[in-house]
Amino acid sequence: MRWILCIVLLAGCPASPTPTGTVCPDPDPNTLTYDNFGKSFMTRYCTWCHDSHLLHSQRNGAPIYHDFDTLLGVLEVPDHIDQETGIGPKASNYFMPGSRCPSVAGGPLDKDCNQPTDQERRDLALWIACERKRPHNFSDGGVDAP
Ligand code: HEC
Repeated sequence: MRWILCIVLLAGCPASPTPTGTVCPDPDPNTLTYDNFGKSFMTRYCTWCHDSHLLHSQRNGAPIYHDFDTLLGVLEVPDHIDQETGIGPKASNYFMPGSRCPSVAGGPLDKDCNQPTDQERRDLALWIACERKRPHNFSDGGVDAP
């Protein structure tokens, strides 16, 4: 129905993932870090499906190479994360985490997903914008090691 209205009226078209246009201030305020924000955000909302320990069959359709259980995994697809989940001056993206989630990582979709607040989505976009510019040493395999 939404798509029919969308085509007939060109109104109510489902939005598509759009870059939020979030820019990290210069100098980097360094307020949001992997340790104080990113890691817990991903654990609360994303690694139910996007975790490198989950087999393909356990991911509820989440694409491979989109694993958010490490900072390295996040920084491999920062634009995708911003476009799916971030809020910023140019877009408000609510595509992830979707509506139904597993109650144990990799399990069946048996509950409503916990949803990030709008403030958390803004913080996510800002954190990603800043974190991608910070120096990293991933010799430990992706655990935060500036
Ligand atoms: C219930 C399982 C599930 C959870 C939880 C989940 N995702 Fe996803 N994710 C998917 C599925 C399924 C797809 C592929 C279909 C799609 O793109 O809508 C996907 C695709 C993606 C993509 C790739 C889109 C592209 O460009 O190809 C990104 C980025 C993403 N998710 C980010 C996130 C983030 C960030 C979170 C946490 C806020 C999250 N996901 C939580 C299931 C999940």
